[in-house]
Amino acid sequence: MNASKRIQTLPPYLFAEVDKKVAKAKSEGKDIINLSIGDPDLGTPKPVVEKLYEAAKNPDTHHYPSYVGMKDLRLEISNWMKKRFNANFNDDEICVLIGSKEGVAHLPLGIINPGDYGIYPDPGYPVYHTSIMFAGGNPIQMPLQQENKFLPDLDELNKKIRNSGKKPKLMFLNYPNNPTSAVTDLKFLKEVIEFAIDNEILICYDNAYSEMTFDNYAAPSIFQVKNADNVAIEIFSFSKTYNMTGWRIGFAVGKNENMWLLKKVKENFDSGVFNAIQIAAIEALRNKDVEKTKRQNMKIFEERRNVACEKLDELKAKFEKPKATFYIWVKVNKEKFKTNSSLSMKFCDKAIEKGVVLTPGVGFGEYGEGFVRIAITQNKERIVEGIERIKELF
Ligand SMILES: Cc1ncc(COP(=O)(O)O)c(C=O)c1O
Repeated sequence: MNASKRIQTLPPYLFAEVDKKVAKAKSEGKDIINLSIGDPDLGTPKPVVEKLYEAAKNPDTHHYPSYVGMKDLRLEISNWMKKRFNANFNDDEICVLIGSKEGVAHLPLGIINPGDYGIYPDPGYPVYHTSIMFAGGNPIQMPLQQENKFLPDLDELNKKIRNSGKKPKLMFLNYPNNPTSAVTDLKFLKEVIEFAIDNEILICYDNAYSEMTFDNYAAPSIFQVKNADNVAIEIFSFSKTYNMTGWRIGFAVGKNENMWLLKKVKENFDSGVFNAIQIAAIEALRNKDVEKTKRQNMKIFEERRNVACEKLDELKAKFEKPKATFYIWVKVNKEKFKTNSSLSMKFCDKAIEKGVVLTPGVGFGEYGEGFVRIAITQNKERIVEGIERIKELF
């Protein structure tokens, strides 16, 4: 069967490619230290797992769920938004997602017509680019560069839009950022909202790592900026906060003038999240012991970050100590590699030979080239051993 044009033009899905290389190395009997994918290793807090078990035993949970999510969960999320960000959204302005990836992937279908423009950060979570393409849109690249602390240069972007006559309808933005681990503040988010209002663009603010922060840094919500609710939708995830990547649950928040677009797509494409998982998600947000575990887990990640950064410092690697996420974005030392193709791929291929899996920056876009991403989703000893194994690559 011939593939659709949309499939043919897609780049290979980065993480699937990395998985293949890992499988190959494992089949060769290598001891592999996987520091590549953003899948936390600490396990979902026990009360959440127990709640799922209890809820799954009740046949009432076995029916089709609501398209927008259970009202009780949406009410709990509404309380959380108020408590965490002082943001006021009622339950009707919240939509439960099958993981935040699903929201990111579906949103452009509600906004982008074939030929319309959507802005994606480069480097960035690959689904932004793909989802714009799947909707028939043309992705506009928004570079995130080191000299600008991996924030977009909005003046440059404005010029690009004006000079090209390409008027975008949607922009994806993500802080704390994957893959660079850059963070932002309300001053910058205010500029983003002004930009969105001036250009009549909907911002999809992906806050999947909002709770994965260190050194007392608290990630803001875009809704802490005045008037943001006119031009933004914000997406959150249970995956990273509660070690629930496999559960597939997240949520989107926004005023219904914008949110209805996402809800309309979802009504037609999926049938929601298993009710027992939603009941367990309520437990995650409500249970004080879960909150305690979450804080302890963040301390564990903070310690790992410290240990990894110390080790990288020893090796004179070039990177910024992250204030958030479980990624370290390390610059590849050009002097070390003679290659006419991708430096970051070359670095990662050499690392796999040593039994260490990292993610090549180029997999996150053209501007990711020259960097590699180290995920601290292994225990301290394995992280240190992993970095030690590849020390001559820095
Ligand atoms: C920036 C970003 N957004 C969204 C996701 C998807 O997360 P979820 O598990 O909620 O679908 C990821 C996962 O790595 C991510 O890095």
